[in-house]
Amino acid sequence: MESQLTSAKLIERDHSIVAQAIYRYTDIAFQRAEGVYLYDFDGRRYLDFVAGIATMNVGHCHPAVVEAICDQARTLIHGASHVGYMEPYVELLEALREIAPGDLKNGKGILMNSGSEAVETGVKLARYVTNRPMILAFTDSFHGRPMGALALTASSELYRRRLSGLFTGVYHTPYPYCFRCPLKHKSPETCGLACLNLVEKALQTVVPPEDLAGIIVEPIAGEGGYIVPPDGFLQALREICDRYGALLIADEVQTGLGRTGKMFAVEHWGVEPDIICLAKALGGGLPLGGVLARAELMDAWPPAAQGTTFGGNPIACRAGLATLRIVQEENLMAHAVEVGDYIQSRFREAQKELPIIGDVRGKGLMVGVELVNADGSPASEIIKKVIKDIGANGVVITKCGASTLRIAPPLIISKEQASEGVDIIIRVLRQYQW
Ligand SMILES: Cc1ncc(COP(=O)(O)O)c(C=O)c1O
Repeated sequence: MESQLTSAKLIERDHSIVAQAIYRYTDIAFQRAEGVYLYDFDGRRYLDFVAGIATMNVGHCHPAVVEAICDQARTLIHGASHVGYMEPYVELLEALREIAPGDLKNGKGILMNSGSEAVETGVKLARYVTNRPMILAFTDSFHGRPMGALALTASSELYRRRLSGLFTGVYHTPYPYCFRCPLKHKSPETCGLACLNLVEKALQTVVPPEDLAGIIVEPIAGEGGYIVPPDGFLQALREICDRYGALLIADEVQTGLGRTGKMFAVEHWGVEPDIICLAKALGGGLPLGGVLARAELMDAWPPAAQGTTFGGNPIACRAGLATLRIVQEENLMAHAVEVGDYIQSRFREAQKELPIIGDVRGKGLMVGVELVNADGSPASEIIKKVIKDIGANGVVITKCGASTLRIAPPLIISKEQASEGVDIIIRVLRQYQW
């Protein structure tokens, strides 16, 4: 599309009308995108290292996704799932069920518009079917910003400031963030165990087990800092839920659908949740969220207990289906592991000469590079500037946690492209070396 607009002009117009509550990690205005590249209005090309926040798994404007969107737009744009039946809705849930772990292979689903709605749907379902009022969640977790999801989110006080009085019955215990063990343990094994002890303690003190509807957990904490829990942690949560008749709700909004090298991140630990919440890549770039749950749970939720006007929109479902097929057919999960491991190894190597890199972690193409000050504290004062500088040098990236670079490129990124992006990031980090 031809345009006389420059990036500077658009940014000026944006600042005069868009709420500043929407924070921008970069100073880049996106005119168009293709594959792993974004282009601004001045014709400059940027390597996309964050894929619209872990969303564009098969890259931007993939021809098969574009074709699916156009075809569906010519056929049926909107029907509303309360009004009638739509094939793409059914087809997407069938596809999800095929790849789902454990009992969810016979599960049932519901589609919404976003990750937050998927989370709220999962929690409403858990509360309704168990008829229990309490939910256990974790600090450092992010489950969304609407008031229901926000009651579960605990990755930053900023999101909750001046918003007390969220829905009650949610109790948080620490996520096993082993690099900065909340309980000051030195090894991941004892740290993970100590966090589990606090779950048990909560169940003995503030959350009566017979009141516990479910535990909601991100298998890898996303917004909280790309934190990978130690082995055994998720399995233990499964066991606790089984012991008390509570439901395990996996928030796979960011981790799901191939990004970590498995369709669902819980599979890294062989854990089978009762409820899985999905979004981001689910809609192939269009707004879509969804929940897959064991069939008997969905069957115990009565008609009209949940709903939405746009949820499961047919165009979004077709875009999601096309995306999922490409991930499967092009074996992008194995590719994500290969390129993700390569990215991690490059940063580990750089860590030897750049002590500002405190930790490198992740799975597949969900890689976190935590920046630290000389005293080991999070480099939170400079992280935003580092990210803007990386952007100005041609790589689009964001942060997670207090001071972690969030690297979540499209799964189609080649090793060469990944290498080019890592080179640029390392070059920028050298300027910040203390
Ligand atoms: C794990 C997780 N859950 C829920 C959400 C909320 O999703 P949305 O922004 O689509 O509402 C996010 C968004 O980043 C997320 O990462």
